[in-house]
Amino acid sequence: MSDLRVAVLLSGSGSNMEALVRSMTGDHPARPVLVLSDRPEAGGLGRARALGVPAVAVDRLAFGGDRGRFEAALAEVLEQARPDLVCLAGFMRVLSPDFVAGWAGRMLNIHPSLLPRHRGLHTHRRVLEAGEREHGCTVHEVTAELDAGPILGQARIDVRPDDTEDSLAARVLAREHVLYPAVLRRVAQGVRGPLLLDGDD
Ligand code: GAR
Repeated sequence: MSDLRVAVLLSGSGSNMEALVRSMTGDHPARPVLVLSDRPEAGGLGRARALGVPAVAVDRLAFGGDRGRFEAALAEVLEQARPDLVCLAGFMRVLSPDFVAGWAGRMLNIHPSLLPRHRGLHTHRRVLEAGEREHGCTVHEVTAELDAGPILGQARIDVRPDDTEDSLAARVLAREHVLYPAVLRRVAQGVRGPLLLDGDD
């Protein structure tokens, strides 16, 4: 059987993309075929090229707020790479229900909270403000509703008394780099039940 083809969409530094790409070697059933960004200046583009993965930007700002035209351009580049799976990895645009519907069950996202808690932005700050004792990250299927698709895996950490927004961001990100590749491997093998990881290491 041929390898599953994986595209990664990002907007930022691409550390999750790098973890995913580095995991797809050897007996892994998938291979990276494209890294795509909505921002030409995203650090993840250079990082992908350094890893030998084709990297393309579709500059959202060039479409002057016309989401339909932006998504059509994104879809064209994506479809040329013929991915079987799409991984959102710090992709900071909300995709329209129509766009998402075309990838139903084949698009994953990583989110820096224990969903269903803290959908959306500023998750680390909101955990601290709520005085919560646990935090983490979630990989889920992307559906039309933001950060609400079926959960495929979560990594949980304890919030420490001296944690700040920055320390939580760093500790959660380190867990993302373990969780996302683990979930991708399972999905590529046809396993969809939730994977639960506990603790910092
Ligand atoms: C990660 O923490 C990811 O969970 C978050 O952006 C960061 C990207 O870092 N994604 C979201 O907040 C999506 N709503 P990276 O570019 O280094 O992978």
